[in-house]
Amino acid sequence: MDNSSTFKALRVEEVNGKYISGVKDMPFEPLNKGEVLIKVAYSSLNYKDALSTIGNKGVTRKYPHTPGIDAAGIVESSESELFKAGDSVIVTSYELGMNHPGGFAEYIKVPESWVVSMPKRMTAAQAMKFGTAGFTAALSVYRLLNNGQKPEMGPVVVSGALGGVGSVACQLLNKLGFEVIAANYELADESEIKKIGAHSQIDRHVSDDTSGRPMLKTQWAGAIDVVGGNTLTTLLKGCNALGNVTTCGNIGSGDLNMTVYPFILRGVSLLGIDSQNCPMEIRQHVWDLLANDWSIEFDSDLIKETTLETLKAHINLMLDKKSKGRVIVKL
Ligand SMILES: NC(=O)c1ccc[n+]([C@@H]2O[C@H](COP(=O)([O-])OP(=O)(O)OC[C@H]3O[C@@H](n4cnc5c(N)ncnc54)[C@H](OP(=O)(O)O)[C@@H]3O)[C@@H](O)[C@H]2O)c1
Repeated sequence: MDNSSTFKALRVEEVNGKYISGVKDMPFEPLNKGEVLIKVAYSSLNYKDALSTIGNKGVTRKYPHTPGIDAAGIVESSESELFKAGDSVIVTSYELGMNHPGGFAEYIKVPESWVVSMPKRMTAAQAMKFGTAGFTAALSVYRLLNNGQKPEMGPVVVSGALGGVGSVACQLLNKLGFEVIAANYELADESEIKKIGAHSQIDRHVSDDTSGRPMLKTQWAGAIDVVGGNTLTTLLKGCNALGNVTTCGNIGSGDLNMTVYPFILRGVSLLGIDSQNCPMEIRQHVWDLLANDWSIEFDSDLIKETTLETLKAHINLMLDKKSKGRVIVKL
């Protein structure tokens, strides 16, 4: 790469207190020891990216900035002993796209410790159909299974089932032989529920119990929650004995107001999911599962492909909470 060459990136700039984004030419910077330069083939859109474009300081502290918490592509050059030019790789999590220039760019420069080897049989586009959302769903399923959840124990509820994390969680659970209940704020079209592999659905009247009772009649054997707050509380209170409930999101609320009774009278487990700091050994293992035994064929309606130039429209839809399924970005 000569000093005069540049690459394209979606840059967000702060202008008089407003955040403006557009595609810009960026200069290459020299690689430090232990870093790799990756030619990005695909990225994907997550809610954090949308927040980063509107100046959310909880996601991105300093601007100008390139969002994109996900990237998959080929190592272009390397100052790492772990990766060499030509290796196919995935980078998600850590500071990518948050406080480090992200995947909405033709190239990213990252530390080797953030890089996952692309599993054989997985392409960059397939990896980004999962992206951070799908990886988080897979990590949630992985933790349920590791804590003893089995299909014969009964159905597993997934909240926010039509969203990025929820839709992949439903498909994975279905593939692994679980009966899946989709929990959405409002009941969805049956065709949408079928596409994500759920067998039945409930809405907030069931998944957001306001009776104030410390325990509820048992209605499911486990749950994957992205909503938090009273939805998570309800999923815990209504879970069968020895069931597992994962928590990864706070779309509804970050609060958790409840008693200890589901834990001490039914042995229910609450499992936290943090995809950002997931250890590399588990991270690589979960990606390998997604490429092999857990691979899923996404319904084409659930995946939209866009480019840097047309990404803004998808970001706006996400900010308006009107997006469905996953958006992948071809670089
Ligand atoms: N811990 C981690 O490592 C990690 C990683 C990735 C994501 N996350 C978090 O996980 C959450 C979900 O992310 P996502 O990418 O799946 O978001 P998303 O694509 O925007 O989906 C969220 C879904 O939740 C639904 N929803 C909103 N309020 C609801 C409620 N009260 N009851 C039931 N469903 C409700 C939305 O649908 P309607 O509005 O149409 O109901 C939507 O389908 C976010 O909080 C995100 O920050 C955490």
